[in-house]
Amino acid sequence: MIQKKQSRWGAAVAAAAVGGALAMLAAPAMAQDGAASKGKAASKAAANIPPVSDGDMKRLIANSFSSKGPATLQGVLERDEMQQLCSDYPDRSKVPAAVARKIEAAEQQKIRYPADSRWLGDWKEGEKVAQLGRGMQFSDPPGGVNGGNCYACHQMTKAEISFGNIGPSLYQYGKLRGNSEAVLKYTWGKIWDSNAFAACSNMPRFGHKSILTEQQIRDVMALLLDPASPVNQ
Ligand code: HEC
Repeated sequence: MIQKKQSRWGAAVAAAAVGGALAMLAAPAMAQDGAASKGKAASKAAANIPPVSDGDMKRLIANSFSSKGPATLQGVLERDEMQQLCSDYPDRSKVPAAVARKIEAAEQQKIRYPADSRWLGDWKEGEKVAQLGRGMQFSDPPGGVNGGNCYACHQMTKAEISFGNIGPSLYQYGKLRGNSEAVLKYTWGKIWDSNAFAACSNMPRFGHKSILTEQQIRDVMALLLDPASPVNQ
């Protein structure tokens, strides 16, 4: 059988991570970025891989993945419109500007700002959220508390020396930007739905996907923006 449409499951794997194991989050992004940087050797190797249709890929996943706890097959297979669009661009630097604008506009509509305008919680609690990488994994109890795992991708404080660098350093985030209404709004929106400001972002959509609660987001906001937070020393 000749398969014309090559499957693009980069975003689906990211979706699986969001719907499944937070600990897996870094893997697809690294694989994606790593492949891009290896240049010629990678494209030569890719040319030798026969195309896999979307249907084949779905069957493969359905036959090999067993739902357990909060990590469900449905969570892996079901992609919303943004995930489907992004699946066409495994290299997110190649998302056409018009597609990116469409995704960002749609995702901006999904942000829910705090009704009472209480933007900042307790940075000490925020540090715990940023450190915690548990939640939504097959080994976690369904409905348990999730972490944000921010350190997996970001530098945040000087004290924590174990951090990933898929995302930019957030050290001195508040000190450098201040906490004007615009900064508060952007930062909240970014954490709520990362794709609202960077289409096909690797960063989980913490609020939109109910990974973090509103209070956890407030606490992480304080970690980034409270002048007393170790982020801003
Ligand atoms: C899987 C990796 C990943 C995780 C986990 C992650 N981020 Fe990000 N984050 C990114 C990437 C990549 C960017 C860069 C832009 C983009 O693609 O969205 C980013 C950008 C940001 C920005 C915008 C920075 C700027 O200069 O405007 C903020 C704020 C942020 N992240 C906060 C957080 C917080 C808070 C958490 C934890 C609750 C978190 N991130 C977890 C990957 C991640």
